[in-house]
Formats: sequence, structure tokens, C-alpha cells
Amino acid sequence: MSLLKVEGLNLWYGDKKVLHDVSFEVEEGEILCIVGESGSGKSSILYSILRLLPESSRVEGRIMFAGRNLLDLSEREMRNVRGKEIGMIFQEPSAYLDPLFTVGSQIRETFESHFPNKKGEAYERTLEAMKNAGIPSPEEKYRSYPHQLSGGLKQRVCIAMATVCGPKLLLADEPTTALDVSVQKRILNLFRRIRSEGRSVILVTHDFGVVAEVGDRVVVLKDGRIVERGDVYSVFDSPKDSYTKMLLEAI
Ligand SMILES: Nc1ncnc2c1ncn2[C@@H]1O[C@H](COP(=O)(O)OP(=O)(O)OP(=O)(O)O)[C@@H](O)[C@H]1O
Ligand SMILES: [Mg+2]
Repeated sequence: MSLLKVEGLNLWYGDKKVLHDVSFEVEEGEILCIVGESGSGKSSILYSILRLLPESSRVEGRIMFAGRNLLDLSEREMRNVRGKEIGMIFQEPSAYLDPLFTVGSQIRETFESHFPNKKGEAYERTLEAMKNAGIPSPEEKYRSYPHQLSGGLKQRVCIAMATVCGPKLLLADEPTTALDVSVQKRILNLFRRIRSEGRSVILVTHDFGVVAEVGDRVVVLKDGRIVERGDVYSVFDSPKDSYTKMLLEAI
């Protein structure tokens, strides 16, 4: 069954059109990869889903999630969707951490704001999310401030924040780019676990190795248009589009 259905998505920033009639679906319990070169519009798709677009933008189309068109929801309704039903790991995660608060309290706050009647379990849930995101000694790191952590650890804090509420859909924008191979493996395992629980991931990456490792289906984006789509094996085996062939040859 499809969890998310994007239909005819068009997006403009001012006069500039950056997404052209983008349509795709995400099934329950699958990892959909979006690949494409820098500037092709990958992050813009994720921002459209979460409705985190600048004032100057205009969006058309439908984004059906759990029976509702997200583009029709009020800002108040969207706040309940963001973080709780749909989690997001941003491309530049550090920008989303507050320097004045410990990282543990920020993850915990995300959980408590969406589950105000479960405050009693918030600390445990926070530690569990940190552990699942590959953070060593979570009790100790809980009390760290963002500036005390390396870039890779801050990235993992953001992964913990995006997953602490157990969202049905996780949007991950280049989540493993700053991480070394062993941590990358842990994160990919976390995505597999999410899939095995019947939840779904949209994984934005330029790394076809990552696509091959965890992706079920892949969508290739070029200049804001989908030029290729299919299950990962057939796209790798017999890419139809010349641009996809070029991307695959580059690895
Ligand atoms: N806030 C904005 N205002 C105006 N133009 C924007 C804005 N954000 C992105 N763009 C433009 O929209 C296009 C798509 O950008 P987007 O960030 O979605 O691409 P991307 O595929 O995520 O690239 P990258 O791989 O570098 O992250 C680019 O031409 C970019 O310059
Ligand atoms: Mg991007």
C-alpha cells in the first residue's frame, strides 16, 4: 500500500521553476532513493513534502500522505505531521541544533512536544534513539553541547532527533555524506530496521553505492524532472536514460 503519493508536483522559487511535474509513490516498508546531480531539486522535493518552503515559492500538485493532501493542511496541522509522522534528517544538520542546549535535551524535547503524556519515558526513548543512530556512550553524549561534538556526531544527533518519535516516513537528505564507513553502515542498518517495521524512508543521495546497498526503488532526477525510475536492480542492470547511464559509469 502506498504511504505517500506525490502527484504532478511543480515548484517555483520566484520566477524560477525548479520542479516539473514530479510524481512518485512510496510504499509502506520500502526505501525509495532519489538521486541526481547538485541542483537537480532533490532537497526541494523533501522541503515541499514538509512544507518548509520560503515565502517566495509557489507549489502546485498533490502530496497525499495517510489519506490527506499535505498541501491543503493548515500550518498548525503541519506542525503535528513534522517530526512526529514524518521525520527529516536535513542536509546541513548542524544548522538545526541550538548551541545553547545539550543535544540530549533537544532530542528529548522533540519527543515530549509530540507525546506530552509520555514524558515519563522520554529520557529512555532519547537514549535509545541516540544508540540506534550510532552514538557511542549515549548517557554521556546526552549532556554535551553541539559545539563539543564532531560534525559526524552532530549528524547522528540529528538522525536521533528525526527518528525519536518513530515516524511512519523518514526523509533523509544525504544522511551519510559526512560519516565514515563504519558509522555509515550503522545508519544504513537503522534504515533497514525502519523498513522491517513497515515504515518507509526517502533517501536522497548522490552515492549509487548507497542506493545499491539499501534502496528498493530509485528515482533519478535531472533539472527538476524525473528521467528514470524503477526497482534498483533493473535500473542498475539496464538503465534506460542516457543520464542515468552516465551517472552509473561514473562509479
Ligand atoms: N530558497 C531558494 N531560493 C531560490 N532558489 C533556490 C532555493 N533553494 C534552492 N534553490 C534552487 O533550486 C534548485 C534546486 O535546488 P535543490 O537544493 O533542491 O537541489 P539539490 O538536488 O538538493 O542539490 P544538492 O545536491 O546540491 O543538495 C537549484 O537551482 C537551487 O539553486
Ligand atoms: Mg540538496
